[in-house]
Amino acid sequence: MLAAGAASAPASAQGSLVMYCGVQEEWCRAMSTTFEKETGIKVAMTRKSAGEVYAQLRAEASNPRGDIWWGGTGDPHLQAAEEGLTLEYESPANKDLQDWALSQWKAAKQRSIGIYAGALGFGYNTEQIKAKGIPEPKCWADLLNPKLRDDVQVADPNSSGTAYNLLATVVQLMGEDKGFDYLKALHKNVSQYTKSGAAPAKAASLGETAVGIVFIHDAVVFAVQGDPIRAVAPCEGTGYEIGSMSIVKGARNLENAKKFYDWALTPAAQALGAAAKSYQVPSNKNSPVPPQAPKMNEMKLIDYDFVKYGSSAERTRLLTKWDKEVKALPK
Ligand code: G6P
Repeated sequence: MLAAGAASAPASAQGSLVMYCGVQEEWCRAMSTTFEKETGIKVAMTRKSAGEVYAQLRAEASNPRGDIWWGGTGDPHLQAAEEGLTLEYESPANKDLQDWALSQWKAAKQRSIGIYAGALGFGYNTEQIKAKGIPEPKCWADLLNPKLRDDVQVADPNSSGTAYNLLATVVQLMGEDKGFDYLKALHKNVSQYTKSGAAPAKAASLGETAVGIVFIHDAVVFAVQGDPIRAVAPCEGTGYEIGSMSIVKGARNLENAKKFYDWALTPAAQALGAAAKSYQVPSNKNSPVPPQAPKMNEMKLIDYDFVKYGSSAERTRLLTKWDKEVKALPK
């Protein structure tokens, strides 16, 4: 009996976990398979952009299907927290975290925590820029060069956390009117608003676009592997993300979600990022910072107001305005 029972015990004897994952596919897979191996908990993982996960949580609010939302920019996590779509939790690992990770936790009234940080910028294809005979872009203003017409890619801020981070960054950096003027001018050069935030980095590495506006670490990945792409921290200054994690309110596998949450904050789990070629700065003070990670302390970073730009009213207002005043513009 015992032997038969053991032999037929399903792999999911420890139960399961539904994970919405917001980083690059390779890192998502490393997280889900390692957790599964270490705990026996069966993980069903899907990769989605941050705005999409937020929308999915909203749509599923009366019948939640997800358990944990791991990764993606902090703003939509904050919006979900404010709207009661995620759950308060205090991990024993909190004591080991960087202040910025805990500031996300406080801003979210304990419903979200920082797991990594990364600065916004762009990557350009060195061969394409040379072929166009224009100076190498170093600043946000350089991306308005008419010679870059239809040669810049960035994601759509409705789906992508990266692109919403850009929207909130230019508003904070330039002021709202000038910020929108900038985005309207940029629109002329944008060939395509992609769904996911990092896609333009890949396109720039392949020479499918001259410039991709992305988190700097997403361009560094391709530079490190020898592609003709250079990553830039824009000269005027730039914004940054606090990549975050939240437990879904009404999670069917709540205990497993908590287990994952605690585990994901350990240095060993955080080291899976660099191993999967994701070069963000991890949030546990004891996690090694990958040597390839862009040096955020050497950049001109804005004092990003996460509480304001992660609020439901402000995020909704800015996205509606962007749809109306930027995306709808003829080219
Ligand atoms: C990439 C970056 C992450 C970021 C995420 C947001 O995966 O490496 O640092 O949090 O993009 O994705 P999204 O598709 O929502 O812009």
